[in-house]
Amino acid sequence: MKSQNHDIVNEINRLKKQKNAVILVHNYQRPEVQDIADFIGDSLELSQQAAKTEAQTVVFCGVHFMAETAYIVNPGKTVLLPDFESGCPMADMITPEKLIEKKRELPGAVVVCYVNSSAAVKAETDICCTSANAVRVVNSIPKNKEILFVPDQYLGQWVGEKTGRKMHLWPGFCPTHMRILGDDILKEKQKHPGAIALVHPECRPDAKAAADEVMSTGGMIRFVRESKATEFIIGTEVGIIYRLQKENPGKVFIPATDKAVCPNMKKITLEKVLWALQENRYVITVPEEIRVRALNSVNRMLAIG
Ligand code: 13P
Ligand code: SF4
Repeated sequence: MKSQNHDIVNEINRLKKQKNAVILVHNYQRPEVQDIADFIGDSLELSQQAAKTEAQTVVFCGVHFMAETAYIVNPGKTVLLPDFESGCPMADMITPEKLIEKKRELPGAVVVCYVNSSAAVKAETDICCTSANAVRVVNSIPKNKEILFVPDQYLGQWVGEKTGRKMHLWPGFCPTHMRILGDDILKEKQKHPGAIALVHPECRPDAKAAADEVMSTGGMIRFVRESKATEFIIGTEVGIIYRLQKENPGKVFIPATDKAVCPNMKKITLEKVLWALQENRYVITVPEEIRVRALNSVNRMLAIG
């Protein structure tokens, strides 16, 4: 298996050079896919990389909305998603039609859109955010404005608490992060009294209340790197533990629950990355009229950082 992977990786590297391609990988991807990344990161870091890459082809190892975002900021490039079925159930919990209906009920509200959404939904929103910059994005909105936050109710609720802003929340959620319970965190804390519990803002309020810190996956990578602690309870998709362990060999990582697996993030394999490069698939594009409107929302976010 190892030598077979070795052959696939060699061929991926050869084709990557030939096609002037870059491989962007989300922190939740399989270990062997993380290992071939030119750049690995959270949603915000990957959007920033996509916006500045000089490569002609972007192979996006993540889920569909992430590849769409890479195309939105880079329409001149070929963006490939190695598995076309790799979607995000949370992103599918809102449609542009339903959002337009809601906006009619809340005229004048600023619509803040979590990046986990389709391009067509982003096109109907005022400003995008990721879990890494959601607080800054909401703080940038004038105090007299009402806010409609879509589609993640749990990220929205947490940002509301952090900023003191009252927000209208869309009832979306991440089925993977829903599996992390406050009790899971408390149980692991009892077993590992010195451990610091880090959870993602997509988690339910009870999990966030039981944790020591709430942050994006990129935030967790930085926090662990800089922390003097040696044990961490990780409340997010378990794929991140591979990277945490690789970059911090002396530290110990305990998943809050091993049920927190995102099946969509696991759909991309080394073989599929190879086929993507060999056959130029699956090309992700967005109709220009939608792309331009979605870009306004994404650019406002990128300007905030
Ligand atoms: P971040 O990597 O931006 O923290 O997002 C997590 C996530 O669920 C992406 O789908
Ligand atoms: Fe979507 Fe949740 Fe998977 Fe992220 S972890 S891609 S939010 S289902």
